Parts: sequence; C-alpha cells; structure tokens
Amino acid sequence: MLANQNILVVVTGGIAAYKIPNVVRQLIKKGASVRVAMTKTAEKFITAETFRVLTKEPVLTDDNYQISPVAHINLADWSDLVVVTPATANTIAKLDEGIADNEALSTLLATTAPVVVFPAMNHNMWQNKRTQRHIKNLKDDGVWVVEPETGFLAEGYEGKGRLPDIDQQVKAIELVTEAIAQFPPLSSSGLKGFSFLISAGGTHEAIDPVRFLTNKSSGKMGVALSNAARLLGATVKLIATPEAAVLPKLPEVKTTVIESAIQLNDAIQNEYKNYDVVIMAAAVSDYRVAHYSNQKIKKQHQEKSGFQLDLMTNPDILASIDNRQCYKVGFAAESIDIIKYAKDKLNKKSADMIVANDISKKESGFNSDDNEVIIITENGEHFIDRNKKEAIAISVLKVIMEEYHKKAK
Ligand SMILES: Cc1cc2nc3c(=O)[nH]c(=O)nc-3n(C[C@H](O)[C@H](O)[C@H](O)COP(=O)(O)O)c2cc1C
Repeated sequence: MLANQNILVVVTGGIAAYKIPNVVRQLIKKGASVRVAMTKTAEKFITAETFRVLTKEPVLTDDNYQISPVAHINLADWSDLVVVTPATANTIAKLDEGIADNEALSTLLATTAPVVVFPAMNHNMWQNKRTQRHIKNLKDDGVWVVEPETGFLAEGYEGKGRLPDIDQQVKAIELVTEAIAQFPPLSSSGLKGFSFLISAGGTHEAIDPVRFLTNKSSGKMGVALSNAARLLGATVKLIATPEAAVLPKLPEVKTTVIESAIQLNDAIQNEYKNYDVVIMAAAVSDYRVAHYSNQKIKKQHQEKSGFQLDLMTNPDILASIDNRQCYKVGFAAESIDIIKYAKDKLNKKSADMIVANDISKKESGFNSDDNEVIIITENGEHFIDRNKKEAIAISVLKVIMEEYHKKAK
C-alpha cells in the first residue's frame, strides 16, 4: 500500500519526537520513500542527523534550508502524503491559521498533498478550547487528524494527549493512503455523522478455567474496518475478543472485550439499536460447551474411550439483529460454492449485505494480512480483488455506504 509513495514526515517539538525514527523506519520498510522536515524545537528532542541516516536524504530544517533550490516548495511538490508527528499545539494552531514562519510550516502551507496530523501534548493543552477549535477547523478543511490516546503522559499523570504507538500510526497512514486512492472525492470526514458497531475475532467457548474452543479468526478484518470507519470520521464501537482487542487500533475506536458467543450476543443486543451500521465480522462459534467445569478437568488415565464433550447451540446473533433498526452486514467464511452459500446466508439471516471470504485460499481469509472478498447484496455482487485487509476495509465501507443510501431511499 505504501510502496512507491513519497511521504514527507514533519517532526515538531513535542517530547514524543523520540519515537518518530521508528515510524520513519517502518514506512521505509513498507516501501515508501520518506523525507523529513523538522522544526527548531524538534531538534532539541531528536537530531536531524538520525533522520538523515535513516532516510539517506537531507533533512529540511531552519538552519539547513538549502538542500534544494527552493526546498520547501520542492519538498511540498514531491510529497504524495504529508504526516505531521508529533504535532505540537503550537504547530497545529499555526497550520490552521496558515502561518509559515519556519521551513516545516512553509512546506505544509505549500503542499497540495493530503496531510495527516498526529497531535500529542499535555492533557490541558489538548482540551483547551483554542486547540479544539483549531482541530475542528483542520478536520473541516480535510486534514486527517488522528486524535491522541488517553494514557500515562510524560508529565506523570493520566490524560488525553499521548501519541499513538508506532504501529497505530503506520496503520493509520496506510489507511489514509488507501482511502485517498479508492475514494478520490471523499474527504477525511466522508463517514462523519455515521455510527458503526463492529465485532471482531474468534469467540472462546470455555471448557474449564484453562481451556476453550475457538477458531482461526484473528480479528484483523474487523479491526481494519473499525480503524477505516473511524479514520473516515464515523463513530465506532468495536466488540472484540482478547486477540482482536490488542491489534493496533486508532485511539478513538472504543472497544469492549468479550470472550464467548453469549457475551458477544449480550453486547450486541444491548447496543445495536444505537448504531447506523452493524458489521458482524467476528467468527462466532456455533456451539458452546454444555457443562462448564469450574475445576480444571484432569486427564482420566483409566479411560480408554477418550473424552466426550457435550456441546449446545449458541444464539444466532446475526439473525437476531433487526435490520429495520440498522444496516446489517454479516461475514461468511466459505470453502466451496461461495456465492451460493453467501446468498443463502443473506436471505436466511435477513442481512442487508454478506461479505464472503474464500477460506480455502491460504493467502487470504483467516489470520492472514490479506483478503479477497465477494460482497453480496440484493442488488448484486461486488468482487474485491486480493489486497491488504486495510485496503479491503476501505472497499467494503465504500460499498456499504452506496448500499446504505439505496436502502434508505
Ligand atoms: C520538555 C518539553 C516537552 C514538550 N512537549 C510538548 C508536547 O508534547 N506537545 C506540545 O504541543 N508541546 C510541547 N512542548 C512545547 C513546545 O516545544 C513549544 O510549544 C514549541 O514552541 C513548539 O514548537 P514547534 O511547534 O515549532 O515545534 C514541550 C516543551 C518542553 C520544554
């Protein structure tokens, strides 16, 4: 997704600047050409030399502005995407006002490339009405803002203002690149006003305190959908199994962790009527253990006949969601007759859409970073070619929005 992309990373003077060499390394590893511009204050936290060595390119700073004839314009024109990380309150305010009193800001004013901003600052600086006003203006202008996390700040207390981890930043950058490629007319707030409830991961059906039945679902597809919807401006609630909940997520994806199908069912039933779109990407076990053992089950040496486990049927969560209350999307993992089974599922579960994966293919589907899907609705089929799950997520959201509007008519 990032291969052959020209990405300019603008580093400003926040304490989190020390993390950015690793973001740059990850972007380069994924095939991007990366260049760096820094503010004077950023240089107090991290040296330009580090970035010069990592990128093998000169770094634009206020003292090193002659790296090309008119460096801020050359760099602005070169960029396919500009990432400001960490973005200080100071730089955010100036970016909003169009102030260009250093090389980094001049480049930001000159570029026509999409801009992604990762604000990071003290909690009170972030909450300040002036900062919030600037953030709102930037979002309204189509700047992609990935809001900071709530967590332990450098000041020694909890608050909102933390820079998302390196993996989260890289995922967000990948999603923005993909969203721009797939939805040229769609701005960073293309899903603003919409709310999504998304489930992810393979449920755990407990046998005893240490054992459970599960499946190969990693939760990557559901988490990619959650990140993509959030990045496009939607409100997102993710209901995730423990494996899915630890995947890199954007800070504003609110997450409830569940383990079993029963817990997932409870969470969905409590919440789904409050959301516009419900996507059941979790792989829900059809059965659960009939007799849970409070004690760890011991090996029975004397029994030659093996061990019998009684199973009972789990609730059919997808079928129980009333699609008059939301746009209802199910996933189907099939290994044969994919379209036929997906159409059956669409009708039997009265879903608005089924996203079908061919799990017989090793390189896509369960636990893979890639996927290839067929989207089925009553209006027809969409074939989405093999790609990274982040790219598939953007494609799926695009079709959901088209179909959502058709249903609403
Ligand atoms: C130790 C220290 C840490 C700082 N961390 C942050 C920060 O995380 N976020 C922020 O917005 N400002 C932070 N500041 C304040 C900025 O460095 C200051 O506003 C500066 O003018 C930013 O310049 P720039 O936006 O041109 O890089 C910090 C200052 C100091 C001394």
